[in-house]
Amino acid sequence: MPGHNRHGNRSVSGKSDGKIKQTNAERKMKSKIVTDGLQSVLKNVKLDDNDECNSKNSNKNGGKPYGKDDGNRESGDKDNGSNKMRFDICPKRDNVKPKAPSLFLYKVRGNQPKHKGKGNVYFRPVMVLMNNYISIEDQISIVKTCRELGVNNGGFYQPCYSDGSKLNLKMMCLGKNWDPETKLYSETRPVDNAESHPIPEVFHDMVIKALQDSNAYIMNQVPEANVGALNPLMVPDICIVNFYSESGKLGFHQDEDESEMSLKKGLPVVSFSIGDSAEFLYGETWNPDDAEKVILESGDVLIFGGKSRHIFHGVSYILPDTAQTSLIESTDMRPGRLNLTFRKY
Ligand code: SIN
Ligand code: MN
Repeated sequence: MPGHNRHGNRSVSGKSDGKIKQTNAERKMKSKIVTDGLQSVLKNVKLDDNDECNSKNSNKNGGKPYGKDDGNRESGDKDNGSNKMRFDICPKRDNVKPKAPSLFLYKVRGNQPKHKGKGNVYFRPVMVLMNNYISIEDQISIVKTCRELGVNNGGFYQPCYSDGSKLNLKMMCLGKNWDPETKLYSETRPVDNAESHPIPEVFHDMVIKALQDSNAYIMNQVPEANVGALNPLMVPDICIVNFYSESGKLGFHQDEDESEMSLKKGLPVVSFSIGDSAEFLYGETWNPDDAEKVILESGDVLIFGGKSRHIFHGVSYILPDTAQTSLIESTDMRPGRLNLTFRKY
């Protein structure tokens, strides 16, 4: 159930011995010892690639909400500091060399990615891409803010699917926590009981402005625009921040864990891309082979709401070395891509 807190899933298991009679006081004391022990284990938990996911129940589809995911480990970030408590998206690097502009070939996998051109693109009702919408100054400030939040309590960790395999990315939730293992939202996250940091005010403002601008664009430019072709305005209370290393990806899925009201109204998902580009797939069905593709670049804002709120989507690969040099030089961000998706629960 949405919002349901599921700490019980990670409880310490032990068989009770029916022969031993315990007083209430003894029982309380025991459970306090177990809880304290668990808390201290959780405090020391290292949220890095060496972590094992706890639950190993496999079901059909491996419990994966995201369909085809052919890897189960985040790689390409072996220097992520297995001694560190948190994943740092901007580790201090001594030699940040300006990157040579990279030439890349789109991989031939079914549909070719759309070439976006410079302006905004109205893909379908109601899915809009605003190219290079976020200024470089704002991109730098978003990276720095996410870095600060990410190395602190409630920061980046590598989440798990319900079959125990890991997502190919690092994640941090702001506002509310979303758990990929249970697909539930809660105030604290099961992996370490950390509370989600509130969404910074400046992020809120950017989202609201992006929604207003995308609707203004639709009204001016899209002939078939009418009330049903606009994205409903919303004030986000959830921001899921994903960091993809160069080998990161995200399987095909729908965003469907928000409240019934939010989904029914088609309140949009607003997605900010920063850093290396990514191939983004979207389509009407579960089959990623039929999906449309578009390359999302640093500064792009993609919005999907209304009739497109339930669109299947995923990230098939990251295009290495495609982030702007100025962004990397100003932030020391690791090779990879930062994505923020805002929603209303
Ligand atoms: C998501 O679907 O949650 C993230 C999509 C992206 O990284 O562009
Ligand atoms: Mn999604």
